[in-house]
Amino acid sequence: MNVKKIMVVGAGQMGSGIAQVCAQSGYSVILNDVKPEFVERGFRVINKNLSRQVEKGRMSNKQKEEMLGSIQVSTDLHDAKDADLVIEAAVENLEIKTKIFAQLDKIAQEHAILASNTSSLPITEIAAATKRPEKVIGMHFMNPVPVMKLVEIIRGLATADKVYQTIEDITKTLNKVPVEVNDFPGFVSNRVLMPMINEAIYTLYEGIATKEAIDEVMKLGMNHPMGPLALADFIGLDTCLYIMETLHVGFGDDKYRPCPLLRKYVKAGLLGKKTGRGFYVYE
Ligand code: CAA
Repeated sequence: MNVKKIMVVGAGQMGSGIAQVCAQSGYSVILNDVKPEFVERGFRVINKNLSRQVEKGRMSNKQKEEMLGSIQVSTDLHDAKDADLVIEAAVENLEIKTKIFAQLDKIAQEHAILASNTSSLPITEIAAATKRPEKVIGMHFMNPVPVMKLVEIIRGLATADKVYQTIEDITKTLNKVPVEVNDFPGFVSNRVLMPMINEAIYTLYEGIATKEAIDEVMKLGMNHPMGPLALADFIGLDTCLYIMETLHVGFGDDKYRPCPLLRKYVKAGLLGKKTGRGFYVYE
């Protein structure tokens, strides 16, 4: 299938990153969110990232302007009528996502593929909210999207092979590496990453070491670019908790129980970098 226009629903950290890499790869992009200020903020982030590339001599100002010009901002989901592919990167909440997919299904052209950037929710269940489950798929990008190479591609129970192939090909055109996974809670990335982060929080909770020491062990001992507590702050503690709960409920196994300290931080509104304080304080 020839995909020319991609709509990204959700202009937050992930959505704006996805829109940026799509524009950089020559796609025509619609960046959508519910409020103009959200879309404007996402567009500003893209502008800032591309300006940095110009400063570093990696692209010309003309190329930057062309890329920005290929991004149409939108606060109306009906703009999905023009898209060949919609990538949903809205808030990580099953009810909200299924609602968006049910609407997109009514608006989008018959050939359009509907993808979700969910980090742990069931693609099969999201697909069931539409009348085109064979054209629904997971496209899980990593944060920060412009930097990270991986896209986990998640097949729902009904995802058609042709649709999988199209998405794999598009991922390669975005200069990313696709990895195929099946639809189970947390897929592969968060099935492995989140229990590691949760365990790091337990080691802090049980007083085994300071936050700095825990992060240092994992950075210097395991060559991780960030320690798990700094990474949790970067991802967002609310997102970490939500994913742990998805694993806990999805597998019904207590080995995925979220650490009480993680719950406490989230209840206190200390969500990490985005709120200025999580395990660390950010200026
Ligand atoms: N947007 C765009 N570019 C960014 C960026 C951002 N938010 N943050 C950093 N960069 C770029 C910088 O511009 C720089 O680019 P150049 O090398 O081209 O100049 C490059 O990344 C390196 O940045 P820095 O030198 O400032 O910092 P660093 O070397 O410490 O790298 C990092 C920063 C890339 C974030 C690195 O610390 C890292 O890889 N951390 C781990 C990230 C990770 O694990 N992500 C996965 C999270 S899990 C997830 O996303 C899935 C989920 O479902 C929860």
